[in-house]
Amino acid sequence: MTKRILITSALPYINGVKHLGNLTGSMLPADVYARYNRARGRETLFICATDEHGTPAELAALEEGLPIEEYCAKWWAIQKDLGERFGLSWDYWGRSSSKQNHNLTQHFAKVLWEQGFLDIRSTRQVYSHADKRFLPDRYVIGTCPHCGYDRARGDQCENCTRVLDPADLINPRSAVSGSTDIELRDSKHLFLKQSLFADELRKWLGTRTEFSPLVTAIALKWLDEGLQDRGITRDLKWGVPVNAHEWGPNPQGEKPDVEGLKDKVFYVWFDAPIEYIGATREWADSIGKPNEWECWWRGGAVDDVRYVEFMGKDNVPFHTVGFPVTLLGANKGEPKDKQWKLVDVIKGTNWLNYYGGKFSTSQKRGVFMDTALEVLPPDLWRWYLVANSPESADTSFTWQHFSETVNKDLADVLGNFANRTLSFSASKFGPTVPDGGTPGPRETKLADELERRFGLYSTYLEDIQYRKAAAELRAIWVLGNEYLAEGAPWTAIREDKAKAALVIRTAVNLIRLFAVLSAPIIPNTAEALMLALKLDPKAIAWPKGRVADELNVIGAGASLEARFAFSKITSEQVAGWESRFGGAPN
Ligand code: MF3
Ligand code: ZN
Repeated sequence: MTKRILITSALPYINGVKHLGNLTGSMLPADVYARYNRARGRETLFICATDEHGTPAELAALEEGLPIEEYCAKWWAIQKDLGERFGLSWDYWGRSSSKQNHNLTQHFAKVLWEQGFLDIRSTRQVYSHADKRFLPDRYVIGTCPHCGYDRARGDQCENCTRVLDPADLINPRSAVSGSTDIELRDSKHLFLKQSLFADELRKWLGTRTEFSPLVTAIALKWLDEGLQDRGITRDLKWGVPVNAHEWGPNPQGEKPDVEGLKDKVFYVWFDAPIEYIGATREWADSIGKPNEWECWWRGGAVDDVRYVEFMGKDNVPFHTVGFPVTLLGANKGEPKDKQWKLVDVIKGTNWLNYYGGKFSTSQKRGVFMDTALEVLPPDLWRWYLVANSPESADTSFTWQHFSETVNKDLADVLGNFANRTLSFSASKFGPTVPDGGTPGPRETKLADELERRFGLYSTYLEDIQYRKAAAELRAIWVLGNEYLAEGAPWTAIREDKAKAALVIRTAVNLIRLFAVLSAPIIPNTAEALMLALKLDPKAIAWPKGRVADELNVIGAGASLEARFAFSKITSEQVAGWESRFGGAPN
């Protein structure tokens, strides 16, 4: 059965421009996969959105002095623009604050409650008199009870990485006002009874044979440590309101405590993954087919959907435990023909570091999507980040390594091949492709070698092994240079003009093939190559038959540009960026 491909990338937090680590961990690999699948002619839907709720968003809005709604609208647009400039080919860029996500989140909560998977528990929460509000998560700062670090945040200690409860902090103070006029108050909250799902989750994980080892290991660690029930509400105003007044009784016949649950919103990690569905619904509404989202997410129609999620490794627990429990639990209450689709493949990536240390949004350390595009075009970044994807281990960015990689691969190998071919052709044969007669043994050898490498390259893309894919693509480009060197048209042109013509005609066809094969990773370069051949840059389709046939697509008489320029990064530029962006951590 040909599958439809559903792709989601972890939803970036709304607060601020994302750094290259965020890009390479989720958004970029998802885009490469989407472009590859579209090129193969598969029906593909690639969804992303901003993750807008939670205390970090509220604190950032406070800092910018904007009402939270305005703050989110502003940064949603900025991130959309940057993503598009990086060539991220989302079918839809949504917002977790959309009404579609509100409705879906509330729907899930209602079903989970009515199935008996939600508990209402009384908890101790930090209340600030000065701010006249509860202070959840990062709204409280204080001393870590484990390591004594005096600026630990209520959700986690940055120093010892332990997960905290705001009520654990010693000498707590408000992150909003700094006030220490704080007390612990009782507050009712909803808990998702994850512990009930331990066996079912383990069984489900056993069927997810395509998860990468990193992902499975993280998931099993959580299961082995014993699944904890999880608080899924907060005392905040910004978020999806708890809609307990709409819920029926649970299986014990209890009605929810509507009064105790008023003025609460769902926890950001409850509503954010649901926005994968929400954004699909936003997409369906935006194209005027409001029911179209369902065939990607629920019911019998999803049998032919292959759903692939991309994310950094810190997000894996929420996607192997949190979100699946929401869906598995809801499925017990949904009719047979409305069952929710769970993920088929989770691609979790390790960290990209900056000179061995962390990229940091709060410390502005590293290269961010906006500054990256200020200094260089997107494909240089895309190539580097895909070819050095932190798939099996953390990797470290340095300007030196970056410039060496892109100079060598893109300028010296790919760019140089295209430019040598086109400029030689123009100078010896004029503005059109020469007629070289019938291909000979050299062309057969080239085609055989291409066939083999093309097979490997496709397999690596299919399996989402991008380092290997990029290495294979580079090797394919190298075949072009080797072919030119062996065919040596600059010598042949003197004694055997037909041979020189055959080599050039074949090399011109190689340029086209390289454009097609490179398009998922470096789409702008692929387009530029197609334009240099005066071909429609949109006409990029994955080879279906034998690769040898791809060497005879462009025939004699087709017109060509006389050059293909690909400029190199200079050592002066590298030195400038090293001092502007900072190198090794002090
Ligand atoms: N905003 C989160 C992060 O950047 C990712 C959310 S993924 C989602 O770590 F599925 F929950 F949306
Ligand atoms: Zn600590």
